Amino acid sequence: MMSSNKLSSVFGITTFGESHGPAIGILFDSPIPNQIFPMEELRAALRRRAPQGKHSTARIEPDDIEILSGVFEGKTTGSPLCIIVRNRSARSLDYEAIRNLIRPGYADYSWLQKYHIFDYRGGGRASGRETVARVIAAELLKSLLKNIHISSQCLRIGMLSTEESPSKPTNPYYWPDADGYSNLIKYLDEVKARSDSVGGVIRVRAQNVPPGLGDPIYEKLSANIAKAMLSIGSVRGILFGEGLALAEMPGSLVNDQFQNGKPTSNHHGGILGGVSTGQDIVFDLIIRPVSGIGTEQKTIDLRGKDSKITIEGRHDTCHLPRLVPVIEAMLIICLADALQHQRLIRGNTDLDAYREALDKLDEDLILLLARRRDLVRQVKKYKEERGIAPKDPSREQDIMIRSRYLAEQTGMDPDMVEDLMRKNLEISAL
Ligand SMILES: Cc1cc2nc3c(=O)[nH]c(=O)nc-3n(C[C@H](O)[C@H](O)[C@H](O)COP(=O)(O)O)c2cc1C
Repeated sequence: MMSSNKLSSVFGITTFGESHGPAIGILFDSPIPNQIFPMEELRAALRRRAPQGKHSTARIEPDDIEILSGVFEGKTTGSPLCIIVRNRSARSLDYEAIRNLIRPGYADYSWLQKYHIFDYRGGGRASGRETVARVIAAELLKSLLKNIHISSQCLRIGMLSTEESPSKPTNPYYWPDADGYSNLIKYLDEVKARSDSVGGVIRVRAQNVPPGLGDPIYEKLSANIAKAMLSIGSVRGILFGEGLALAEMPGSLVNDQFQNGKPTSNHHGGILGGVSTGQDIVFDLIIRPVSGIGTEQKTIDLRGKDSKITIEGRHDTCHLPRLVPVIEAMLIICLADALQHQRLIRGNTDLDAYREALDKLDEDLILLLARRRDLVRQVKKYKEERGIAPKDPSREQDIMIRSRYLAEQTGMDPDMVEDLMRKNLEISAL
């Protein structure tokens, strides 16, 4: 069997789990050691991925994160990091009535032909629930992107379309036309009343992307982004830059010409020859409507006999808002992979790498100060319980003598180090 659950070969990330199984999870084979585990950021990312609003599925999961391995005292150890999120709201009984029927538009028909077995409960691994793992993986890699900024806007939902706006949409549908938003909701209410669903187009933009990302020719950045996006259920197409218009425009208009040392336009969406130009990476994704619709449809049963199906269950009228965090997660993973490749090509000694190492040391220093303070609190309690005096001037003097000696040994100014240690004692006393 060919392996097909590797989300990032560069970072060794595999995902697992099905919609109605016990859990969804990721195994990060060799995570960067000694990093603070971003628990709060992960929780926020999963909250953003969760279904919201009246046009979304009613399956609401608590999405609690369970770390099975690879984290010690809040930091990654470098050992395999295994994280799961349990499925608590999977109502498998909803699927009982249709367990022998092929659902039109889903992966049921093709997967059954491939494996001769399929999990009828919510699509198994083909379900949108699987994307929890992608969001977790992206959050763990996000810090590598530094100040790259990724944003998305929905430019089409069913029959309604709008234009990209320079300001970030504030509504749940990422709809940039604030004035037309109530119209959109009215339209979606009509679709919902018909028990139908609609798809659309999502514009994705990544800003501050450094030039030089992507490896010709089989690891082109554009090719890898396209593969990542098309791996998301219901994404049907990707168009970079001016997209379809590129087919009509003459070369004289399509070429991004240069002036004053830089390109004067970005018709290609920030990637040429498979390598980032340093301009915004821009692409549109064509999204199909969700298959789970409430109207009666013609189908076949598992033996191929004609039948009819009406899908009850809990489904989306329009799932575009639920796709946005997943799309952005996949772009984060692609860019993190490409950045890692680029670091390897350029060696590890550029200014960014030095700064990264310095930031890490500063972070460690602060964490050590906090650990020292916590330990001092325990000592204080210990002394209180035994009636021992809290201050011990001779011990403090010893600390200073030892610090001055170490300063001399390592070529530092002993006075400065003594000052630093006094501050350290002050912090510990708080
Ligand atoms: C976040 C997310 C949520 C989804 N929600 C639904 C849903 O509620 N109902 C549905 O029929 N399909 C939903 N899908 C789409 C299916 O997963 C997908 O269309 C189906 O498995 C067929 O796969 P394909 O689109 O790749 O052909 C969702 C996909 C994603 C990524």
